[in-house]
Amino acid sequence: IHQTEWTSRTSQLEEVPVLGGGTGFIGTALTQLLKARGHEVTLISRKPAPGRITWDELATSGLPRCDAAINLAGENILNPLRRWNEAFQKEVLSSRLETTHLLARAITKAPHPPQAWVLVTGVAYYQPSPTAEYDEDSPGGDFDFFSNLVTKWEAAARLPGDSTRQVVVRSGVVLGRGGGAIGHMLLPFRLGLGGPIGSGHQFFPWIHIRDLVGILAHAVEASHVQGVLNGVAPASTTTNAEFAQALGAALGRPAFIPLPSTVVQAVFGRERAIMLLEGQKVVPRRTLASGYQYSFPELGAALKEVVA
Ligand SMILES: NC(=O)c1ccc[n+]([C@@H]2O[C@H](COP(=O)([O-])OP(=O)(O)OC[C@H]3O[C@@H](n4cnc5c(N)ncnc54)[C@H](OP(=O)(O)O)[C@@H]3O)[C@@H](O)[C@H]2O)c1
Repeated sequence: IHQTEWTSRTSQLEEVPVLGGGTGFIGTALTQLLKARGHEVTLISRKPAPGRITWDELATSGLPRCDAAINLAGENILNPLRRWNEAFQKEVLSSRLETTHLLARAITKAPHPPQAWVLVTGVAYYQPSPTAEYDEDSPGGDFDFFSNLVTKWEAAARLPGDSTRQVVVRSGVVLGRGGGAIGHMLLPFRLGLGGPIGSGHQFFPWIHIRDLVGILAHAVEASHVQGVLNGVAPASTTTNAEFAQALGAALGRPAFIPLPSTVVQAVFGRERAIMLLEGQKVVPRRTLASGYQYSFPELGAALKEVVA
C-alpha cells in the first residue's frame, strides 16, 4: 500500500492506539504522551479495569478498532527479588512471546487492521563487546539467552503481508523517574554509596524515557517509519563508569564505590548478571535518519531531569 493511501486512511480512522503492557513504567509515560497528542488509548492488561481490555478478551473477541497497536508487556527481568531459575526464565519469555503473538494474530485477523504495529525489544540483541559499534543493520540475536529472546520476540511480531506498517524499537536502559533500572540505583547514589558496576568499562546504552516514548509516538504517527530503530541516545557511547560519575554529579554526591561483579552475580545469577556487567555500543542511525529529534541527547541533562 502506498503512502498516499495511508494518508487518506488516517483521516477516516479514529486515532485509537491499543497498548499492551501500558500500565508499566514506559507504558504510563507513553499513554500520557499519546493522550496529550489527542489519541484515545486502550490498554491491554492482565487485570480488568475501565478503559482496558484483558489479554483473554483480545484472544476471544479480537482487536478493537484502532489505528495502531503497541506492545510493552513483559515480566521485569531485573527484579532482584526473583531468582534466575527455569520457572522465572519461562515467565520472562512467555510474557513477551505470548502477548506479542496474541497481538500479531489479532492484527492479522482484524477486518480493519491498524496502520502501525510497534514492538519494544532490547539492545541485548547485539553482542556485548568493548570495541564493536552496532547500528540497526548489525548482526546479532544468536549468542545468549537474551539475544535469543529478542530474536524470538521480534519473530513473534512479524506479520504476513504489508497492510500494517511494522516497527521494532530496540531500547537501551530507560532513564526516568519512578521506575526502571535507575529506580534501584537512586537510593545508594543519593547516599554517596554509588559507583561503577563491575569493571565499569562496559558500555551503558541509555535513553531518557521522554525520548523512548517520543520515538514510539513518532513510529505510530509517521507513515514513513518502518523496520528496526535503535532506542538509544545519540551520545549513548557512555561506559558504565562514566554513567556512575554523571549520576553522582547530577546528585552532587561522590560515586566511587564499585559494585563488585561477584555481588552482582550472586544477586542476579551469572547469566542475568551479564546484562549489568557487559554492554554494547549502540548508535541510533535509522532513528536519526527517520527524522526523530531527541529531547535529551546528552547524559548530563537527561540525568538532571531524572533526579530533579
Ligand atoms: N525499562 C527499560 O529500561 C527497558 C529497556 C529495554 C526494553 N524494555 C522492555 O520494554 C517493555 C516495558 O518495560 P517497562 O520498564 O515499562 O516494564 P514494566 O514497568 O515492568 O511494565 C511491563 C508491563 O508488562 C505487563 N506484564 C508484566 N509481567 C507480565 C506477565 N508475566 N505477563 C503479561 N504481562 C506482564 C504489566 O502489565 P499488567 O500488569 O497491566 O498486565 C506491566 O505493566 C518490556 O518488555 C521491557 O523488556 C524495557
